[in-house]
Amino acid sequence: MALRKLVAGNWKMNGSLASLAELDAIADVGSGAVDIAICPPATLIAPAVARQPGLAIGAQDCHWNPSGAHTGCLSVAMLAEAGARLVIVGHSERRTDNHETDAEVKAKAEAAIAGGLTAIVCVGETEAERDAGREVAVVTGQLRGSVPESATGETLVVAYEPVWAIGTGRTPTVADVADMHAAIRQCLGQLLGDEGANVRILYGGSVKPANAAELLHVPDVDGALVGGASLKAADFVPIVAAAQ
Ligand code: PGA
Repeated sequence: MALRKLVAGNWKMNGSLASLAELDAIADVGSGAVDIAICPPATLIAPAVARQPGLAIGAQDCHWNPSGAHTGCLSVAMLAEAGARLVIVGHSERRTDNHETDAEVKAKAEAAIAGGLTAIVCVGETEAERDAGREVAVVTGQLRGSVPESATGETLVVAYEPVWAIGTGRTPTVADVADMHAAIRQCLGQLLGDEGANVRILYGGSVKPANAAELLHVPDVDGALVGGASLKAADFVPIVAAAQ
């Protein structure tokens, strides 16, 4: 049974109030056969929800604690109150820039799920790891360390994002994407039992209108996590269309 596809945009540290005009055309695509979400900077979550209440808006990170002395951090309850319905955790930029560990990513995903948000857990190998033939071991190791045991297809999405494909214009071959998504599906089965079949596995890394159809129709690719091409509706909307 094919899972309903999800195309999620990750604006990263880009955008302003003026950028929210892009959401109008994205919301106009409607909720056909594909789920759509946009994860803007946290300061734009509430205004994004106010502008397009029907569009799923998400956050890019959360803390695992409900409150406390964590200067600069945001709790799941804060993000939910702002209107977020999902949250990206363990993006490779945070694993690198902020030295986030699998255990921290798992704690964030658990907190997100407990707080009623869908967690998008990101995994992916570096170029050196792929060159060494270790990509499946790295990614399944990240999954074992980061996926909460209680997760379901409703509460968890996995995003496979090869680090070397993010923002570079390079993508793995269709065969490599198929191999990795099959390995992720198998690993999710080991971690979650039958529920592993219900978890959507997104591909991310240089998804563009020109390559979206090819990538989105690989077996076990249940959608895309889109960075640069999510900033403009003119790029993002054709990617959504390619997922139909
Ligand atoms: P990109 O980023 O589409 O700009 O490569 C993807 C991501 O980091 O989620």
